[in-house]
Amino acid sequence: MEFVEGGQVNDLKYIQDNNIDPFEVTDKLGKLYSQMIFINGFVHSDPHPGNILLKKTDEGTCDIILLDHGLYANLSDEFRVEYSRLWLSILNRDRKAMRLHSNNLGIEGDLYGLFACMVTGRTWDTIMEGVDRRKQTTGEKELMQKVLPNVLPQISGILENVNRQMLLILKTNDLMRGIEHTLCTSARMGAFRVMSKCCVRSVYKEKIDNASTKIDKIKMILVQYWLLFKINMYYTLLSLGQICNTVVNLGQRSLQIIKR
Ligand SMILES: Nc1ncnc2c1ncn2[C@@H]1O[C@H](COP(=O)(O)OP(=O)(O)O)[C@@H](O)[C@H]1O
Ligand SMILES: [Mg+2]
Repeated sequence: MEFVEGGQVNDLKYIQDNNIDPFEVTDKLGKLYSQMIFINGFVHSDPHPGNILLKKTDEGTCDIILLDHGLYANLSDEFRVEYSRLWLSILNRDRKAMRLHSNNLGIEGDLYGLFACMVTGRTWDTIMEGVDRRKQTTGEKELMQKVLPNVLPQISGILENVNRQMLLILKTNDLMRGIEHTLCTSARMGAFRVMSKCCVRSVYKEKIDNASTKIDKIKMILVQYWLLFKINMYYTLLSLGQICNTVVNLGQRSLQIIKR
């Protein structure tokens, strides 16, 4: 144990004074939490800003230090793989799979839609358009706040039905989103790339371990590599698409200014 000099993750003055890139912080936290949730199944579940320190290194990067190891979620392999499958179904906008995996996590019938909103912190419309494609707007936040009071009974029903592991994950998700909100780095595409790759690894590790023959094992390993490659291609193309859109928008704006 050592005492670490640093600033709290929500200390914007410390971040600015030390020239820390908030996106580096969010990316590192995202990687850390994706690894803990989807791969290790052992999750520091109290990531409020008082428990996360930032420290600028001599190399100019930023270290993330997790403090206070008093509350951990110990996820069973079954839960971890099912939760990974749920996230993949949300990213794939596959309602049938969302219903199935929500159901396996204790959510009955049509409540899977609300559950997906609770897991992602996004509206159903956004989920159907792609949580990794749409940045959260103030309109979306206002809509969430407006709708929330009407679905409180259903939300408390869901919270009563899920197990302790899921409750800790929901709490952890909310705390992470709070940090991203403070740092103004919400819904980053890079985070979804890392997350979906961890989900694929978690689901395929189970399939590879359970394959009955050597041939099946090799098949599963190849499918896993193919899916990881597809994810990389998808997010690279999505980023390129966004850059093109920005360039086109800038071009259109400059044309309007010239015409005036
Ligand atoms: N190793 C450490 N280095 C620097 N500060 C620390 C360290 N451990 C604890 N702290 C400071 O003490 C505070 C309380 O410690 P913590 O372990 O979070 O206990 P608590 O259970 O009271 O929340 C932290 O928010 C942090 O500011
Ligand atoms: Mg603490």
